[in-house]
Amino acid sequence: MQDVMEATGSARPAHVKPDQFVDFDIYAPPGEGKSFYEGWQLLHAQGVPDVVWTPRNEGHWIVTRNDLIDEVFADHTRFSSRVILLPKSAGEQHNLIPTTLDPPEHRPYRSLLNSSFSPRAVGGIEAQIRDVAAGLVEAVRLDGQCNFTTAYAEILPIKVFMTMFGLPLEDSQQLKTWSDATTRADGTISMADALARIAAYLQPFLDARKGKDGDDMLSRIVNGKIGDRALSDVEALQLALQVLIAGLDTVVNFLGFTFLFLAQNPAHRQRLVEDPDLIPTAIEELVRRFPIVTIGREVVTDMEYHGAQLKKGEMIVTATVLGGLDPTVNPDPMKVDFDRVGARHVSFGTGPHKCPGAHLARTEISISIEEWLKRIPVFELAAGADVRVMGGIAATVNAVPLVWDPATTRAV
Ligand code: HEM
Repeated sequence: MQDVMEATGSARPAHVKPDQFVDFDIYAPPGEGKSFYEGWQLLHAQGVPDVVWTPRNEGHWIVTRNDLIDEVFADHTRFSSRVILLPKSAGEQHNLIPTTLDPPEHRPYRSLLNSSFSPRAVGGIEAQIRDVAAGLVEAVRLDGQCNFTTAYAEILPIKVFMTMFGLPLEDSQQLKTWSDATTRADGTISMADALARIAAYLQPFLDARKGKDGDDMLSRIVNGKIGDRALSDVEALQLALQVLIAGLDTVVNFLGFTFLFLAQNPAHRQRLVEDPDLIPTAIEELVRRFPIVTIGREVVTDMEYHGAQLKKGEMIVTATVLGGLDPTVNPDPMKVDFDRVGARHVSFGTGPHKCPGAHLARTEISISIEEWLKRIPVFELAAGADVRVMGGIAATVNAVPLVWDPATTRAV
């Protein structure tokens, strides 16, 4: 694996000290997909400062410690959400709400979302999530094999979104295809076209729910108020789109990491089979161990920050991977220990933008583990599986091919 401190060939900006200058591509960390988390951990090696600069992705800072990531996320007066995606020239094009607003503008939009993500609201759709989960597991149970990514992980979160928004489940696949095109274009449809199609799809539903008191999330959004005024159609669409984008890839891939881990660690899996009450605790540890989101903030003003000379307008990356895996806050951080006490992480962010969907995400993961292990308690990764983890705004697992003996499964 390459040394992150080696020379890159790119010029070091004058305000960056020599020991702060690293060669690190946040979207392609060292390890070529085979050791994603180990690649990031190079930034925790001895001698690497708490704040480093890489010339990749148009040049930006990275904070390498859990507590600093927490601080940058939480302090909008010094670190703005005006731009959160890198490279900055691309991030400037992203203007979704509420993610790119700072307080106080951010607050009313965020309050509007919070009500739909409360434990009560999530509890209200739990039975439907469970039905979808059970159906997906049952569909593959007697096959003895599946690509977990396509057979399960990619399907559950979009169906949960459709349920929350009160949209027809049979439109799931279509909406997912457009949503995917907004986050990772595959060339078949442009991002602008995909956004336009999502907007056109949602508009009749928005119109139909305006002025009615439905308790689905779309009704709450479209009838929401910002101060004294009603939300505009454009704002309603932007909010809906943000929830769609934020709640898909994250859950798809976190499910992928979870089931990859359970397939490769039979002792951990067996504990959950024998004691399902342990599942919520296990999920907290997996959330700490497998963070996936890499975003950033824009530096608001020139300042000295933990030894680094930050300049107004520069980007500073808050890679959640560097939080839970920081050995100064979590001893032996690569080890998954369901009995770990006092673990710390920033996998769902912190501060005003802290993930509102965290409870929903935990519910989706918990139901998935429960419904799967009830029916397929013994499974493993297919021999010769070519599993690769790619960096991105959300890290992705390309495929999780699983195999099991149908005779060991149970009908429920
Ligand atoms: C394992 C799954 C998930 C992870 C790891 C995750 C992670 C995150 C993180 C780190 C942020 C903070 C972004 C920032 O500070 O700029 C965030 C924000 C957000 N997340 Fe999640 N998320 C997950 C699931 C979900 C789900 C299921 C939904 C909704 C269906 C959701 C909706 C959102 C929204 C709307 C925001 C923006 C909040 C704001 O700007 O105030 N997320 N998420």
